[in-house]
Amino acid sequence: MRSFAGRDILSLKDFERNEFFRVFEVAAELEPIARNRRNVDLLREKTLVTAFYQPSTRTRLAHEAAMLRLGGAVTGFADAKMTRAGDFYQESIKDTVKMLEFYGDVIVMRHFQIGAPHEAAQWASIPVINGGDGWGEHPTQILTDLYTVLREKGTIDGLRWVAVGDMRMRTMHSLGYALTQFDCPITFVAPPGMEMPDSYKEDFMAMGLDFDFADHVGDVIGDADVILVEPTVQPDYSKSRDERKGELPTTPDNYKITKDLLVNKAKSDAILLHSLPRMDEIPPDVDITRWSRYWQEAFNGVVMRMALLALVLGAME
Ligand code: CP
Repeated sequence: MRSFAGRDILSLKDFERNEFFRVFEVAAELEPIARNRRNVDLLREKTLVTAFYQPSTRTRLAHEAAMLRLGGAVTGFADAKMTRAGDFYQESIKDTVKMLEFYGDVIVMRHFQIGAPHEAAQWASIPVINGGDGWGEHPTQILTDLYTVLREKGTIDGLRWVAVGDMRMRTMHSLGYALTQFDCPITFVAPPGMEMPDSYKEDFMAMGLDFDFADHVGDVIGDADVILVEPTVQPDYSKSRDERKGELPTTPDNYKITKDLLVNKAKSDAILLHSLPRMDEIPPDVDITRWSRYWQEAFNGVVMRMALLALVLGAME
């Protein structure tokens, strides 16, 4: 297996099956630290730099919380408008990263441009973690989701997935790449205009993913062991910030997971994932049903980032 030490985490396209399992092993080993709300000194001499050019609640704070749990320090920015990249100078990714690499030992970057973290990784002498790049990928979120499935179901192989939402969304692309390494058929359910882009379909086919498409979640939810949902009402991820304007549409029934739908059609032991934030695609009364796992997913988001930071900084091999 390739070493994780010093490695960038940019995409799940190049992740090998045994590497997924190594990340899950390390996460399981570190999980008790987070569960017991302890801070240890595994990364005492290391600093995380957060470079967020788009808003985030979970990805930035989960990485920061993970670093603090492991005894490291955190610096960075949550709003590029407060930096020279977001003012008159529009400072380039290269020039910004050539500064950030001296301020810490690992960078986690979220950006509105596809491939921005990949470009940062070309210039940085320290590992770069992709915290979401435009409509590209969101590898650490899907590692979190797979770890959640493993913890909740005891396996990943052999489970059938249904993914509902906007297939232009970065999580969906990382999910497709990840599932090529497992025995997991998946059905994608997306509104017209939000279908899976051809380039990803071509990659999934070439990499052997067993996938198909459906128009209505109600037609396929009964077969699912894992139901992963993303909004269909959402901002433009190619913008640094997309303010809400006017009346928003509501989510059509085809892409909505209601309590009635779960009670009447879902397998009794299926699990429901949503990386959040949500709009109306999962109403709050679903939260206390036996299917929901998104709060466990949120906890695991910290655990997964602990594992990735420990691995890329060489504290765990
Ligand atoms: N799921 C996710 O990426 O959330 P944030 O946008 O809050 O980071």
